[in-house]
Amino acid sequence: MKSCAASAPSSTANLGPGYDVFGLALDALQDIVKITKAAGKDGRIDITMFSDVKIPAEAESNSAGLVIKRMAKEFGIGDNLKVEVRKGVPAGYGMGSSAASAAAAAVAFNRLYNLKIPKNKLVEYAAEGEIASAGAKHYDNVSASLLGGFIVSSILPGKQVPEFIRIEPPKDLVLVVAVPSIPVPAKKTEVARSVLPKEVPLKSVVHNVSGASTIVAGFALKDVDVIARGINDVIVEPARKHLIPGYDSVRSHALEAGALAVTISGAGPSMIAFLKTSKKAKKVAAAMAAGFKEAGVQCRTFTCRPSNGSRVV
Ligand code: HSE
Repeated sequence: MKSCAASAPSSTANLGPGYDVFGLALDALQDIVKITKAAGKDGRIDITMFSDVKIPAEAESNSAGLVIKRMAKEFGIGDNLKVEVRKGVPAGYGMGSSAASAAAAAVAFNRLYNLKIPKNKLVEYAAEGEIASAGAKHYDNVSASLLGGFIVSSILPGKQVPEFIRIEPPKDLVLVVAVPSIPVPAKKTEVARSVLPKEVPLKSVVHNVSGASTIVAGFALKDVDVIARGINDVIVEPARKHLIPGYDSVRSHALEAGALAVTISGAGPSMIAFLKTSKKAKKVAAAMAAGFKEAGVQCRTFTCRPSNGSRVV
């Protein structure tokens, strides 16, 4: 095989109280990464980006490039490679953009070299790509984008790498994502993490543990109402909401329009609403757009469902 391409979907992280632990793959948008073996064995990785915005194409600063570099090194592969990255997921808006490129790169490389790496292990390689955008590894988006469905990154004592627990989401879960057209800093996730409190009151921890447990129970029971009841974060969201113009109005309008829960998608600035069935999706999308408009911000909205994750295309 000379080349292989894989797609990986957008995703949302945190789902309110599940900071850095929960991820949900979304079929709203996707990235495609194609890797082609080129002549020579100097270990060169030439990346071509197909994207509306400028994203660094040097392998060391590119999420797909970092993943391919790491995998090539680990498996002693010195082939020169051409990499094409087609961006569908907007970079820097909390929809798992770098994670999608990283997941697609890991899946494509695995198949190109027939490495037969188990999917959970592939997530570890894909997480390498998060360093390009977030400055550190986060498994929440990348695990969801690669494995699909709802993922709990379960951090076990003494282990560096979490275990990934996948739960198939309920069939009637519908999401509306509103992506505001505001400029975002280059290392947005780092910025959004820098505003978080270093210590939190025990009372808040109890609240968030209760919410997160309710969300997991909701996915396990395949009950959207239970999932939505848990989406209430008193630690991360209050510290970040000032970074999102119109946060309060987007949230309240979406709830009035029939959303069961609304939260920041990942590190933001996109907002995500949770619904049962798509009947009210249009109304909720319009309400979210009206909320952003009150703050003078235009937005794009996407009505979507959970995705099954990355695949060879
Ligand atoms: N959990 C991360 C954050 C999202 O909220 O900063 C990106 O992985």
